[in-house]
Amino acid sequence: MLARLTNKHILLGVTGGIAAYKSAELIRRLRDAGAEVQVVMTAAAREFITPLTLQALSGNPVHTDLLDPAAEAAMGHIELARWADLVLIAPASADTLARLAQGLANDLLSTLWLAASGRKAVAPAMNQQMWADAATQANLDLLRQRGVAVFGPGSGSQACGDIGAGRLLEAVELAALCADQFQSGSLTGIEVVITAGPTREALDPVRYLSNHSSGKMGFALAEACIEAGARVTLIAGPVHQPTPARAHRIDVVSALDMLAASERAVAEAKVAVGPARTIFIATAAVADYRPARVAEQKIKKGFKDDTLELTLIKNPDIVATIAAQADKPFVMGFAAETQAVEGYACDKLARKRLDLIACNDVSRSDIGFQSDDNAMTVFWPDGATPGRAELAKASKPQIARALVALLAARLPAGGRTASGDDASLTRHADEIL
Ligand code: C5P
Repeated sequence: MLARLTNKHILLGVTGGIAAYKSAELIRRLRDAGAEVQVVMTAAAREFITPLTLQALSGNPVHTDLLDPAAEAAMGHIELARWADLVLIAPASADTLARLAQGLANDLLSTLWLAASGRKAVAPAMNQQMWADAATQANLDLLRQRGVAVFGPGSGSQACGDIGAGRLLEAVELAALCADQFQSGSLTGIEVVITAGPTREALDPVRYLSNHSSGKMGFALAEACIEAGARVTLIAGPVHQPTPARAHRIDVVSALDMLAASERAVAEAKVAVGPARTIFIATAAVADYRPARVAEQKIKKGFKDDTLELTLIKNPDIVATIAAQADKPFVMGFAAETQAVEGYACDKLARKRLDLIACNDVSRSDIGFQSDDNAMTVFWPDGATPGRAELAKASKPQIARALVALLAARLPAGGRTASGDDASLTRHADEIL
């Protein structure tokens, strides 16, 4: 359930009250669940807990002032409001609730609240008499009517010695309520590592061997996986593609770099969520060979030589190396073929121990490499004859979403998080197209 917080941006507002100490643990819980947290503190909150504590826990500078030029230059308050998937104020004091209800914008937190258009929640914390007061209840009713979620409060003994309602919920309860605000996607709680683009194999300091891969398919898949709730590490060869929001991008050059980065990222993902919840997707057009030696100086053209011989050695097969791991993740490969597409694809499926292979016919000029469109046939091991699905020609983002639906359907039961059976997820792939 907490996995729904993966990749989510939580803007945590902390206001003045003894319960402010609980916000420190809340930040840890949110981050442990994979959320990114930015903290805004009111002046009163800073009397109870220091910004330094919350900065260390959130891993981000704490925002305190509306008119701080340095903070505005780093991330302006409107940008911060837009960044947030959820604004949660915990603890929310009676004064803050009143100011929010009135729509005041006289400090950073109240201004951000007005400027944020996404999900909003408050977790009130105050003395039981203040909580019971008609003004507080009327303010909360107003906020509820505007779609604000109210977390708690709990009741019990209070710091002031009273007993009653008004205690801030515990961090673990607040984190679960935050997760409740988000829909579960078909890849919620899954770590995905994707290779994309070409590799470049150096001949000398200025020349290299490479290919025409644009990286578009891998980048579109990264976006689709993130949209489905996964955390994505995108290992990119030299491409001119903008990094999808929330992807962790690692740029590499050669096949050997790409292999090392892939092994590291897969190992980290397996530690984080286990092999059953880790997916490795190889879309990269890895150079099959690299020059046996890279000349230290630029290779000079000989006056008498009309030919130049290069000795190439085979690069490691990245996807096959990952798929050969004892505790292998779920592995998906791609095949770009110019003939006998199905035969070659099914051969690779078995030989490289893949769980899924998507292949396209790159002899067609309307799809594939540099094109914005693609059409694919997907195969997976299924007894004597591989299972197959046809994805008709569509834009790469549409194909990517359909592939994600197929992927989610084929994940082992231990890794699958979406509700619904294989058939309904496969139907979903069809509906997307
Ligand atoms: O054997 P072929 O290159 O056609 O296989 C394509 C699939 O294998 C793709 O998924 C590609 O990313 C992957 N591959 C790899 N490392 C290589 C060669 C291919 O991961 N050295």
